[in-house]
Amino acid sequence: MKKEDLDAREQLLIAVTREASELARRLYLHPESLGVKLKGKQDYITVADGEVERLIVSRIAERFPEDAVLGEEGGAQGTGDARSDAIWIIDPIDGTANFAHRIPHFSISIGFLSGGEPQLGTIAAPMYHEVFRARRGRGAFCNERRMQVAGSADIHRAIVELGWSVRRPARAYTAMLERVLAAGATFLRAGSGALGLAYVADGRTHGYCELHINAWDVAAGLLLVREAGGWTNDFFAGAALAEGNPVLACTPALKEALVAITGVGQATGKLERRIT
Ligand code: IPD
Repeated sequence: MKKEDLDAREQLLIAVTREASELARRLYLHPESLGVKLKGKQDYITVADGEVERLIVSRIAERFPEDAVLGEEGGAQGTGDARSDAIWIIDPIDGTANFAHRIPHFSISIGFLSGGEPQLGTIAAPMYHEVFRARRGRGAFCNERRMQVAGSADIHRAIVELGWSVRRPARAYTAMLERVLAAGATFLRAGSGALGLAYVADGRTHGYCELHINAWDVAAGLLLVREAGGWTNDFFAGAALAEGNPVLACTPALKEALVAITGVGQATGKLERRIT
């Protein structure tokens, strides 16, 4: 994609992130309008998920009708072709369970891929007044501050976020948790995979791992981590867009240890299969 085409998409991305963040914040502050429902076990949806996604999709379709859009709540949609070279990947509310329970740890994640590679990404945390953004080759920022992953190689000081969902057996999660603790790290599970990756990028935590996560949760965050100097597994390999994949993102100093502990990112993928 030509530089000016990417510039135009970056401008739209920044503007729509701000607008979507304000909308999500307004809806969160009016819990009577949340309309919380369950999509499945421990899988929530609120009125905000649909409203925020519709806003983002309509802004993209107005400006770039030829682009494809993959949104958590609508699946493949928009006027673009899913095989298009330009694809937007949206999670309108990541951390929906938190949102539904009036816990302010939620985010809006928008990633833009071209040539199969993440090029642009934003993650907004409306209740914390933070917007994380990155453009491939140009670094990652939290509001206007440049981000850098943590430098420490000491696993005894490390905080690793371990994402969880019912999509993988509980015993796979608890086994991974045990290995993380046995290695001397501590863990977190804050409920927004996108924010989990943003926090790795900003050096607040040292790694984020989840045995299965969807593309809309990580499309922006993986770029943030890489642009902040971190390492990520090859998440977009295979059918990740349609089916998701395991994810590991961390500070390079802890890559070897965390790949061995979690089994995610190993060349053969054998351990990934064994523990899931
Ligand atoms: C979920 C969150 C959670 C992660 C799950 C996701 P949602 O997304 O990111 O932290 O562990 O895998 O499904 O449902 O809140 O958009």
